[in-house]
Amino acid sequence: MTGSNIKRQRHSESTILVTGGTGYIGSHTVVALMQEGYCPVIVDNLSNSKISVLKRIGGITGREPTFYKADLLNTKALNKIFQRHRISSVIHFAGLKAVGESVLHPLQYYRNNIEGSLSLFSVMSENDVKKIIFSSSASIYGQAAVIPIAENCPPAPTNPYARSKFIIEQILNDIHRADPQWEVVILRYFNPVGAHQSGLIGEDPQGIPNNLMPYISQVAVGRRKKLQIFGNDYPTSDGTGVRDYIHVMDLAEGHVAALRKIEKKQSSRKKKMPLMINLGTGRGCTVMEMVQAFEKVSGKKIPYSVTKRRAGDIAACYADVTYAKKILKWKTKRSIEDMCCDAWRWQSENPQGY
Ligand code: NAD
Ligand code: UD1
Repeated sequence: MTGSNIKRQRHSESTILVTGGTGYIGSHTVVALMQEGYCPVIVDNLSNSKISVLKRIGGITGREPTFYKADLLNTKALNKIFQRHRISSVIHFAGLKAVGESVLHPLQYYRNNIEGSLSLFSVMSENDVKKIIFSSSASIYGQAAVIPIAENCPPAPTNPYARSKFIIEQILNDIHRADPQWEVVILRYFNPVGAHQSGLIGEDPQGIPNNLMPYISQVAVGRRKKLQIFGNDYPTSDGTGVRDYIHVMDLAEGHVAALRKIEKKQSSRKKKMPLMINLGTGRGCTVMEMVQAFEKVSGKKIPYSVTKRRAGDIAACYADVTYAKKILKWKTKRSIEDMCCDAWRWQSENPQGY
């Protein structure tokens, strides 16, 4: 029996509800879960993802995951799903995530992200499912005074998107305080990039990408003329912004590590607080370094011009990952080159996305 068969047997009864599982990070996590023998059940309203993701996941894992098209705000539909499956834990990715859009449409963001989460937590509670991993974001730290950013850095969200994440974190804290049976892990992601190494799934932003890596890949594949670099006068090694880019498969494996922790029958952990954990590499990379790494792996020139700083941007942001290593026994394995290489394979084999 191979190692992966053994794993498959071990977790064969663990059904994991994955909200937002057809999205970018969700789909990669579903692959990681299936490869570890878990049985994911996806709920997604497809507002920012495509149904064809399921076939692609099947192409990697040999089996399409169970899928329900439903909105988290539809409590009745959620309840039916919980009654149909014996769910042991929930990984909650579903949400709207564009910072600029959240500033323009705060109500839409609060309603979707907060009300959606409240609906999910209520249904979990009614069905006695009390284990959850929640997708939060490094954006809740805002302009951190100390870098690298550790989990005890005081939260200072600066936009409705980040505030919605922080509010959901607090709701989870209160739920746990009221009933310590709840096992809550809050994961604060830094900058997820890249794609599965098969080139079958990846990031497929709608419209003009807001984020650096998808913009670079679309320039490389000829969908956009040139990259605009937002400022080269920051106090960093080459003047461009520094971020902590994390390969999406490392991030996916971080979720599996968190799941292992909460799925343990007799958790030895003192259940005082939900766990709040940064997921990043702990290393900063400048915009210029990312452009150069992408050019090297793709063999494509990335034309760029330097423009003024983007409003709201910070000079540098990267994670202190000491706590993640200690608590999850997990650390990232993939390099900036791996991130560029896998992003390029995905983009060049799927120039228009899914
Ligand atoms: P994504 O948009 O690709 O995936 C989110 C999925 O949730 C989509 O498939 C969308 O259709 C679904 N969804 C949204 N609202 C829903 C609702 N009310 N009911 C059902 N489904 C709904 O985003 P992603 O990049 O995969 O991000 C996943 C999570 O991680 C989000 O919560 C996001 O805020 C968080 N996050 C992402 C990043 C990032 O850079 N991608 C960084 C930090 C945190
Ligand atoms: C963005 C989000 C943040 C989210 C994070 C991870 C904003 C304001 N913040 O932040 O909430 O958690 O993504 O996905 O949207 N850059 C360019 N040209 C581009 C795009 C980006 O030079 O076309 C630069 C930026 O100035 C920055 C770096 O590249 O220095 C990374 O930008 P981006 O990918 O948007 O991530 P964040 O700014 O960290």
